[in-house]
Amino acid sequence: MTAVALVPAAGQGVRLGLGTPKALVPVHGTPLLTHAVRGLLDAGCVRHVVVAAPPAEVAATAALLAEAGLAADVVPGGADRTDSVRRALRHALTVVPDARVVLVHDAARAFTPPEVIQAVVAAVEAGAPAVIPVLPMADTVKQVDGGGTVTATPDRAALRVVQTPQGFDVEVLTRAYAAAGDSATDDAGLVEKLGVPVATVMGHPCAMKITTPFDLAIAEAVLCAKRN
Ligand code: C5P
Repeated sequence: MTAVALVPAAGQGVRLGLGTPKALVPVHGTPLLTHAVRGLLDAGCVRHVVVAAPPAEVAATAALLAEAGLAADVVPGGADRTDSVRRALRHALTVVPDARVVLVHDAARAFTPPEVIQAVVAAVEAGAPAVIPVLPMADTVKQVDGGGTVTATPDRAALRVVQTPQGFDVEVLTRAYAAAGDSATDDAGLVEKLGVPVATVMGHPCAMKITTPFDLAIAEAVLCAKRN
């Protein structure tokens, strides 16, 4: 196995409004981060997981994962997501210097099915420099101006919703992060800026991002029940 996975989880999760970092919000009594790390390790194609946690929560996060029997390293996150990924990547390459594939995965996509993780790793191992899981758009999307008036209707057939884990050849992601200046929310976007092609594989509805209390309710009702 040549894949390492980075989980940037150093944000505060304000949108969930629960006063706790989103990654530590429990679903069926288990934090999202624990579900996400377990999902990565159980997929059978990830050798090592590095989590970036809020600096004040590093020890507690490491203890949480250890108690769950999950072998993962926890490093202090940075000022923004880009910085957190950069730190996690640096650590991962120190621990697994022969890693060829790097995944970047949202803790909030805690119930991503193993088939999606395996498909991303397999596509990078087969030679794609960057791979993202995607779904077709169910809704029509409009582009609007600052006043909310519609300015364009992109062709829905050509649009995709992007999920994680996003997978990269290690050299490509390292180059992308070396070139990344400001804060980025999409790792594949950094790779696109290098002019490197980004391939897609099929995502899955269960890889939804848990962002709002509504998403959390869906996770409680459906996703965790399916997993157990
Ligand atoms: O807050 P936002 O939704 O943009 O965060 C996206 C992801 O980046 C979250 O998983 C969050 O935990 C992570 N993040 C991070 N380090 C930061 C800020 C956000 O790892 N300093």
